[in-house]
Amino acid sequence: MQILLSSIINHNRKYTKEGEVATYIPELSKADKNHLGIYVVTLDGEEYGEGDYNVKFTMQSISKVVTLMLALLDNGPEKLFEKIDMEPTADTFNSISSLETRNPQKPLNPMINSGAIATTSLIYGESSEKKIERILKFTRRITGNKDININYDVFKSEKETGHRNRALAYYMKSTGVIDGDVEDILDAYFMQCSMEVTCKDIARIAAMLANNGLLPWSGERIIPAHYARIVKTIMVTCGMYDESGEFAVKVGIPGKSGVGGGILAAVPNRMGIGVFGPALNKKGNSIAGLKVLEELSRELDLSIF
Ligand code: DON
Repeated sequence: MQILLSSIINHNRKYTKEGEVATYIPELSKADKNHLGIYVVTLDGEEYGEGDYNVKFTMQSISKVVTLMLALLDNGPEKLFEKIDMEPTADTFNSISSLETRNPQKPLNPMINSGAIATTSLIYGESSEKKIERILKFTRRITGNKDININYDVFKSEKETGHRNRALAYYMKSTGVIDGDVEDILDAYFMQCSMEVTCKDIARIAAMLANNGLLPWSGERIIPAHYARIVKTIMVTCGMYDESGEFAVKVGIPGKSGVGGGILAAVPNRMGIGVFGPALNKKGNSIAGLKVLEELSRELDLSIF
């Protein structure tokens, strides 16, 4: 495995030259586009890292997987899916249009920004501080990494420039999708996106999902198996936004990307994978990260289809 990962990272380094790091959150433009790393946690207890797997990056949209799990634990699927739908979209991750044109006016799914902001609004905690405290605690428990924290420079940068998310949230307040103080909910959302991790952390979250909600290394149950199934299914249909179809064909693993350059991939009953490469394509997904996952899936026959 180590040799395979090393050769996959070497082959695909050339793709780090393609695409651009995210700039719409100014602080993210400081990322080094040459970085490329992978970490694999198998369900039988093996762990392997290659390339820049120790470099920290912010979770961004990968955090939506964590908040979906926590919102499911807090509310149950019935209440959650009353507010947020479970349908894929061909629009971009921060699209506004369907919020007005669809009836009922639910955000399409918990992975796009509108649905993720609504998901965060459902997490218990009367203020953004309380919510983020619980989100951090939950993330640290899954990963076993007590040092996971918020990158406050990224948080401030997104809070100052996140007008599109602000528009989505105020629109959802007007239609009754979200209750409560909009700015406070946005603060919690911007903070969850700014949680700083490495490939190892996201591989561990993925391994728990791959293992049907149990931490493979301790046997501790984090979420019920049927919640893990819901989350993985939504990752397949919606995790890579308007590139989810292509990802399903070429990689075939439940996955979730973030504009920090990370991708979390959970191979059911086999392994959790975390990859990182900050240069993105137009759809907000890591170009080299996608190539790495495509090659690994082909070599190890990981597609679930
Ligand atoms: O809300 C945003 O736009 C970012 N904090 C997260 C978006 C994101 O990661 C999209 N993923 N590829």
